[in-house]
Amino acid sequence: MAGLLGIEELSREEIQAILDRAKDFQPVQDQTFKRLDILRGKMIVNLFYEASTRTRTSFEIAAKRLGADAISITAAGSSVAKGESLVDTLNTLAAMRPSAIVIRHWASGAPHFLARHLPIPIINAGDGTHEHPTQALLDARTILDCRETLEGLRVAIIGDVVHSRVARSNIHLLSKFGARIVLCGPASLVPPELAAIAPGVEITYDMREAIRDADVIMMLRVQLERQHEAAFPAGEYFQFYGLRLEHLELARPNAIVMHPGPINRGREISSEVADSQRSVILNQVENGVAVRMAVLERILCQ
Ligand code: CP
Repeated sequence: MAGLLGIEELSREEIQAILDRAKDFQPVQDQTFKRLDILRGKMIVNLFYEASTRTRTSFEIAAKRLGADAISITAAGSSVAKGESLVDTLNTLAAMRPSAIVIRHWASGAPHFLARHLPIPIINAGDGTHEHPTQALLDARTILDCRETLEGLRVAIIGDVVHSRVARSNIHLLSKFGARIVLCGPASLVPPELAAIAPGVEITYDMREAIRDADVIMMLRVQLERQHEAAFPAGEYFQFYGLRLEHLELARPNAIVMHPGPINRGREISSEVADSQRSVILNQVENGVAVRMAVLERILCQ
């Protein structure tokens, strides 16, 4: 791996290798994590043009746990706020010779553009509505902590699918492993062409139908920042597409509830569900560190 731009271009074997290695990096009970020497002498730059809590922090923790130096830069606190372009910003950072650059950008394809122009591994931490590869990897790790295989699982992905890079990366990953994927949400947020992302993807606009017999219920945040006009009546969203306790009775008895975060309680998920035994939302966050350690090691220790 020269970097990590998306799940679409990874093979099943490459994904499996990252998921297996991430398991080695998961914390053991209450043991404190010993800093490793695997990336000693390396420097990771996190450059975030969009807000982030989970991804930015966990990349920084992952780099430090592997023994690397890590710095995080946000657009608002950098010379981007003075008008510096993406290319000039990246050339400036590249001149300081980092070992890899982790970038989140509002423009789909921004990491791919940089990867073509910079001789440094670029790791996509979310580009516009395109992909969020490490989120799909940590989601797969979380599912596999609860199930033996992804093959044959029914995964309902519900909400603002059209704007979701998380959904797109998960669809690519889950379909490579033979999961059955059903997309659901308001018609304005789940257009029929999304079924073409991968073979076998189903679409329904009926939340109860999507959840029936699901093994995994993956809720998505409504991305108001990417909607230029109201895509649905805001007051009705929770009524039709908000996950409530009563829905869980339709799913498989051991179904798990996921959400990439940040969650909006009372919009896409009720507090009772988010805080229930079925919810693995914080397990997802925890696995974010282990998966990003596996990704950084794979990219920087070739
Ligand atoms: N899931 C996710 O990408 O969260 P952040 O925006 O907090 O990084």
